[in-house]
Amino acid sequence: MEHKEHFHGSDLEKIEKIYGIKKEELVSFSANVNPLGLSPLVKKELSQNLDCLTAYPDREYSDLRKAIASYVNSIPENVCVGNGASELISLLSKVCKPKKALILGPTYSEYEHSLGLAGGMCDYFELKETDNFVLDKESLIKSLKAGYDLCVLCNPNNPTSALIEKDVLKEICESAKENNVLLMVDETYMEFVDDKKDASAVSLTFDYKNLIVLRGVSKFFASPGLRLGYAVTSNTDLIKRVNELQVPWSVNSLAEVAGKVMFSDKEYIKNTKEYVSIERERIFERLSKIKSLKVYKPTCNFILCKIVSGSIEANDLFDAAIKEKCMIRDCADFNFLDESFFRFCFMKKDDNDRLLNVIERLFK
Ligand SMILES: Cc1ncc(COP(=O)(O)O)c(C=O)c1O
Repeated sequence: MEHKEHFHGSDLEKIEKIYGIKKEELVSFSANVNPLGLSPLVKKELSQNLDCLTAYPDREYSDLRKAIASYVNSIPENVCVGNGASELISLLSKVCKPKKALILGPTYSEYEHSLGLAGGMCDYFELKETDNFVLDKESLIKSLKAGYDLCVLCNPNNPTSALIEKDVLKEICESAKENNVLLMVDETYMEFVDDKKDASAVSLTFDYKNLIVLRGVSKFFASPGLRLGYAVTSNTDLIKRVNELQVPWSVNSLAEVAGKVMFSDKEYIKNTKEYVSIERERIFERLSKIKSLKVYKPTCNFILCKIVSGSIEANDLFDAAIKEKCMIRDCADFNFLDESFFRFCFMKKDDNDRLLNVIERLFK
C-alpha cells in the first residue's frame, strides 16, 4: 500500500487503521521515546500512590519544582512546570506575544503553530543542508539584529540531531540580549547527548534573563502519557505571567508524584545514556556504509538520513519498514526538507537491527 500521509510518532491508531497492523505490534521509531521504558522507581512510586488522584496536586508544585531544580542545577524560583513541553511552548508563545519571531529550521513544527495561534509572525532562519544543518553562528547573530522579539531554537535539533555547543549558545544569548530578543531553547533531547559535551544552556539562565530553557520528560524518561514538562529561566516576571495564564492544576497528581522521584533514578539515567550512546555509534557506522545514503552525525537519540541516489523515496522506505512493523519518520513535511529525508530513533537492539536490515535491503 502506498502512503502519501505524513505520520507523527504518536499516530499509531492511524497506522493500525490504514495498514491493518495492531498498534501493540508496531515499533515506533518516529516518537523518539527512550526504549528502556519507564524508570523502575517511577513505576513503583506510581503503583504505590494511585490514591493521590483523590486530591488536587499542590497548586504551587513546590516539591516538584524543587526536584527539577536540583536535577538541572537551578533554583525552584526559576522553574515552572507544564502539561508537557507542549503546554509551555503554547503558554510562552502567548505570554511573549512576539510581533516577529525567528525560528531556526528545519525543526519541530509546534513553535510556528503555537506562535501563529498567539498572533505572531514567524520567519525561519535556515540551517543549511550544505552546512550539514550545523548552525552558522555569525549569520544568525546578524539576523538577530533585524527587529525580532523572540528567537526559538531546538538543541539538539529535531529532526537533524545536530547540537549547538554551549560556548556558541552563550554568544547567541549575548547577541540576543543586546538586541532585546528573548531566546527560547527547547532541550527536549538534551539528556541523550554525551555528558562530556556539557551542552545544556540551563547554567546560562542565571546570567541571561532573556533565556528560557524548555524540557519535557516524554522522551528521555519514556513517559509521553504523563504530560510533564518544565521551563527554566531567571526571568521570574515571565514565570509569573505563565502561571497567571495557565489552567490551574494543569500538571496532574500522578505526574506530580512521578516527577518528584523520576529525576533521582540515577541508575536508569546512567543506563539510558550508556545504551543510547552505544546504539548511536553502532547505527551511524552501519548506515554510513550505504553509498546511496547521506547520514548526518547524530548527537542524541535519533538520526537523520538523506537518500542521495536512486529512485527510492522516504515514503517507499516507510512502506517497506512498516511491513516489518517498524514505523520511521518520513521528513517530507518538515520545512526545508523533502521526500529524500527520513529520521528514526534508536529503539531496542533487535528492533534496530530489523530496521537496519530493511534499509540495507532497500538501498543495496
Ligand atoms: C523538539 C520537541 N519539543 C517538544 C515536544 C513535545 O514534548 P512534550 O511531550 O513534552 O509536550 C516534542 C515532541 O515530539 C519535540 O520533538
